[in-house]
Amino acid sequence: MQTERGSFGTKLGIILATAGSAVGLGNVWRFPYMTGQNGGAVFILLYIGCVLLLGIPCMVSEFIIGRHGASNTARAYAKLANGTPWKWVGYMGVLTGFLITGYYAVVAGWCLQYIYASVMGELKGNPDFITHYFQSFSENPLRPIFWTVAMLLLTHYVIIHGVRGGIERASKLLMPTLFVLLLVIVVASCLLPEAEKGISFLFKPQFSKVDSNVFLGALGQSFYSLSIGMGCICTYASYYSRQTNLLKSAVQVAVIDTLVAILAGLMIFPAAFSVGINPDSGPSLIFITLPNVFNQAFAGMPAVGWVVALMFYSLLSLAALTSLISLHEVSTAFFYEEFHITRKKGALLVTVFTCIIGIFCSLSLGKLNCLQIGGKPLFELFDFVTGQIFLPVGGLLTCIFLGWFVPKQVVKDEFTNWQTLRSTLFGVYLFAVRFICPIAILAIFLHQFGVI
Ligand code: TRP
Repeated sequence: MQTERGSFGTKLGIILATAGSAVGLGNVWRFPYMTGQNGGAVFILLYIGCVLLLGIPCMVSEFIIGRHGASNTARAYAKLANGTPWKWVGYMGVLTGFLITGYYAVVAGWCLQYIYASVMGELKGNPDFITHYFQSFSENPLRPIFWTVAMLLLTHYVIIHGVRGGIERASKLLMPTLFVLLLVIVVASCLLPEAEKGISFLFKPQFSKVDSNVFLGALGQSFYSLSIGMGCICTYASYYSRQTNLLKSAVQVAVIDTLVAILAGLMIFPAAFSVGINPDSGPSLIFITLPNVFNQAFAGMPAVGWVVALMFYSLLSLAALTSLISLHEVSTAFFYEEFHITRKKGALLVTVFTCIIGIFCSLSLGKLNCLQIGGKPLFELFDFVTGQIFLPVGGLLTCIFLGWFVPKQVVKDEFTNWQTLRSTLFGVYLFAVRFICPIAILAIFLHQFGVI
């Protein structure tokens, strides 16, 4: 129902909601372990380069398509595609959103379990115990599903209250809370003995570590972290006003997202180095390495350790929730606009389907190995297919579509808010979207399959 289409009320609401989509598990979980595995400060420098050169132009492109279309991602692409097959890029975005929502909710659910576990004091014990705790929990058939569904219901609750009363209000409440928690933990972590080792690991570049993998890892991380490549940003932009300065908003969101990622590093590395644990342990970093770090770093003051762990997992859950909301909204907007049903019914359909996907993803990590395809559990398969294939392809096609196919005047009008803003940077933007982004994205994509 077209009349139900909402819009964001304030500039701050726009920035916080979009930053809420961008700031997620990618910042607090993926960024620190990627940094740990790829040489610390060098990775951060390359990452910042990728955000500036590729992330911001791609984000502006999604903003343009979304605000121009003023509708869900599929229809927004279709409007500009004029009957050509480019419209399928929009449909692909919606499908990707659906799949990501399912498995992202599983990891988000783990964060809720870890809040519960820290409150109940279940995370105390030696490193073997903590490893075993995570394995037996994630393989359990019921508990993770309970938390996955809980996370999706929370998301559902926000979504049914609409764009302004739900998404914007939640973002204005959750994002500042997240910043406060983050700052408190950063201070606690940097006050630990020998914290400087972690800080210097983060900020002293060792250029000898740079190879093509580090470079490409930074590229992939910048896309994932900024929510680019599947219409999340595009859907939010469809609720922006004609006065919103798209380039400025993209820069602000990118700055917030990068700051949160670096602060997440400042939370994890000083604590880990302080107890002599090397934080390069990959995806299990936050669920296995960190509980150990908290236990050991605050061994002398268990109450502080308890509070820090609780705050950390609350922060993680908040970050995951605001991203989940943006992912859910992509499909909700699609359903209610394309099938002419109410927003509430659209949201219900999405919640039910994504719960089913989430349940299967979660079960695939346990004893149900029938849920494996090509030796990969469904969970890993969805992560791989969406993150490594759909997102880069979506980003690549979006840049080619906008840079080469959409009439330049339409792009320029959106970029300059119909000639009311200066267009000095338009040429740079167009060059990035036409040449730099497609070539660089193609390079990551081919490299991960060993082609180049
Ligand atoms: N950017 C989020 C994070 O950092 C995850 C996310 C939300 C995402 N929406 C997305 C990733 C769309 C890719 C595409 O965790």
